[in-house]
Amino acid sequence: MSPPTIKINSINPSQPVDSFEEICEEIDTLLLSRYPLKPVIYDSSSSSIVSSPPSNSTSSSFRDYTSSLTPPRVIKFYQEQHEKQTVSSVKEKRNQFSSLNHAKMSVWDALELLNTLVDNSDPDTELSQIEHCLQTSEALRKDGQPRWLILTGLIHDLGKLLFFYGAEGQWDVVGDTFPVGCAFSPSIIFPEFFKNNPDYSNSKYNTLYGIYEPNCGLDNVLMSYGHDEYMYQVVKNYLPPEANYIIRYHSFYAQHRENGYSHLMNKYDHEMMKWVKIFNPFDLYSKSDDPPNIQELKSYYIELINEYFPEEICW
Ligand SMILES: [Fe+2]
Ligand SMILES: [Fe+2]
Repeated sequence: MSPPTIKINSINPSQPVDSFEEICEEIDTLLLSRYPLKPVIYDSSSSSIVSSPPSNSTSSSFRDYTSSLTPPRVIKFYQEQHEKQTVSSVKEKRNQFSSLNHAKMSVWDALELLNTLVDNSDPDTELSQIEHCLQTSEALRKDGQPRWLILTGLIHDLGKLLFFYGAEGQWDVVGDTFPVGCAFSPSIIFPEFFKNNPDYSNSKYNTLYGIYEPNCGLDNVLMSYGHDEYMYQVVKNYLPPEANYIIRYHSFYAQHRENGYSHLMNKYDHEMMKWVKIFNPFDLYSKSDDPPNIQELKSYYIELINEYFPEEICW
């Protein structure tokens, strides 16, 4: 059988790929340091714990985090991200990428493509992109989670392909996400860096609600742009609402770990955010030194992908 044809219109990173991979890893390490303990998710309706820590959790080894230990490159990344994510830049990025005209390919091919593009650049990478995706999905699978959630784990970071489709750099692809158009919450990591964001001193945008109504719902809120929002646009017509929601808000730590934006959320968000909270530990704590066997797992995951997606989708 001949390999599938992947129609890609542009592979054009504007920043070196190795520094992209390094910043991804360093942000993950910082998140682990900031959130060393897995929250216990308790479901009152069934009186049970609905998610348990992945058995290979490495979280306890990251408890000595202090900001002085943060690598300078990560500080620089957050400075740039907090300065450049504005109402106007977010609207521009949404317009630029919502056309989904960058490629047509299957979900598995996208996974392999991201892996090839990112990891070939850096032989010292500890864990490849595909390995992180598979470790997340395998941790969910071992925990007995539903098939759609296992699939969500597999694909949640695939929006990082954005880096190759004309994103300006790292600041509009990775990192935690947060609302723009209203005051930046102190619960966002490095809140002091927002002082250089033009929206910070704009009276239209710097009040608690800014351009929004109380409890207007996150669907009406502009989130800082990155791989979460892009991937949501790619998959939203194929997956259950819970999966779409997880993908769209999985980097929104200021809410799912800090509850900094409940005043913008409606009833639907509160229901759905439970799933993000269930998902997050599998994303954050499933790293292990034991790399998954990609070839052994491939047929299981292709079957799972085919349950929800057509052969090719638009990217
Ligand atoms: Fe992510
Ligand atoms: Fe992830």
